[in-house]
Amino acid sequence: MISADVATILPAARLRGDFRPPGDKSISHRALLFAAMAAGESHITGAGDGADVRSTAGIMAALGATVERVAGDGRRVDYRIDSPGADGLREPERTLDCGNSGTSLRLIAGFLAGLPMTCVLDGDDSLRRRPVARIIEPLRSMGAVLHGRHHDSLPPLTVVGHTPLRAVDISTPVPSAQVKSAILLAGLRAEGRTTVREGVATRDHTERMLRARGVPVQREDGPDGSVAWSLQGGGTVQAIDERIPGDVSAAAFWLVAGSVHADAELTLRHVGVNPTRRAIIDLLRAMGADIEERSTNVDLGVAAVSGPDGFDDGVGEPIADLVVRSAELRAIDLEPDDVAAAIDEIPILCLAAAQARGTTTIRGAGELRHKESDRIAGIVAGLSAMGARIDIDGDDLRIHGSGGAPLRGAATDSLDDHRLSMTFAIAGLIASDQTIISRPGSAAISYPGFFDDLQGVRA
Ligand code: S3P
Repeated sequence: MISADVATILPAARLRGDFRPPGDKSISHRALLFAAMAAGESHITGAGDGADVRSTAGIMAALGATVERVAGDGRRVDYRIDSPGADGLREPERTLDCGNSGTSLRLIAGFLAGLPMTCVLDGDDSLRRRPVARIIEPLRSMGAVLHGRHHDSLPPLTVVGHTPLRAVDISTPVPSAQVKSAILLAGLRAEGRTTVREGVATRDHTERMLRARGVPVQREDGPDGSVAWSLQGGGTVQAIDERIPGDVSAAAFWLVAGSVHADAELTLRHVGVNPTRRAIIDLLRAMGADIEERSTNVDLGVAAVSGPDGFDDGVGEPIADLVVRSAELRAIDLEPDDVAAAIDEIPILCLAAAQARGTTTIRGAGELRHKESDRIAGIVAGLSAMGARIDIDGDDLRIHGSGGAPLRGAATDSLDDHRLSMTFAIAGLIASDQTIISRPGSAAISYPGFFDDLQGVRA
């Protein structure tokens, strides 16, 4: 039973399903942004239709692109975008509303930094608690003027853009694809070559999608796992058509559900398995999960190519069908680099760890406190209420797995955070009694239709 205020989840006897998760949120944001930057008409097929991606679509329209929803089924949507290109966009009359979306806020700030206009980016109460100093500082060093509330640390964020910007060579203070992308987008409007260095490679959708649109982006790998990304300013982003792969971060909920439930087989179609996004698949496998991966090139669009034989060309997005079956999981140790690689999947991975045999350690999870909620506090409170044993030590977690003994149903608080709402719902499928989730509707931030799919897999 679902209402706006609470969801009540009953345990499921078995899980079966064969479906496609929503379009990837990260890629959908970027497809909309690049379509507005490019002069001409772009078509986006199968974008995620969650509230976050809608925020980006709304902002591109407010900047003067024509953004048309041509088809949709409530989960995925196809867009036609017609834009005058970056230089033809206009200063919006009103505040740009990012809603709950940190990706919209940070990527669009990077883009606006190089446009000759003044914009204010704002959002909901959660977004107003998200850190912005991490983008203000690098974008200022490139010549834009930015201000935030609370000594330039929080939104609303005012961006006074400047053309051209100065190229920079910068190391990101925290592993963050949003920060990296903001700098690269500003670098497009800078004189000279901009380089962003990160200690560990974060998701590289911006880089792949720029290459697909005619902007060369160079990658240089250091011997220690660090990566430097660079591009030459002044490049033109071309309008192309793009098909969006299924969101592996949404699929992650089913990968864990299928693994920890005693009688499960779930098939997830057309899931993005980009090397910088697939960590959740590999971590679950290291825990003993039974996940079959069938690479597929069917139905790939112009940009979403992975080469003739599933070969990753560094331009398109590799995709695969995933089949997950029940398994006995064992504990694992996650280092800070693993956390960065699976940043959005850590909440649901905590559920897998709570059901595994042995004690899982997750080191260096501090960034989780700066997401849509304090996800460390939220996940520990919710799963502990259901009987999981979790210790917090600073930014480290120790999860003492039950070895498959069921959780017990309880009242959990999603903190209005989509990934917590969905984690507690999956936990409810394997709990001994009913689980209650407060404010479950936040799931629609990234996964509209999640609770319908949850109903569907009980069949
Ligand atoms: C995202 C990057 C990550 C992730 C977010 C989407 C992106 O944020 O948590 O959901 O699309 O670039 P950070 O870069 O802040 O870690």
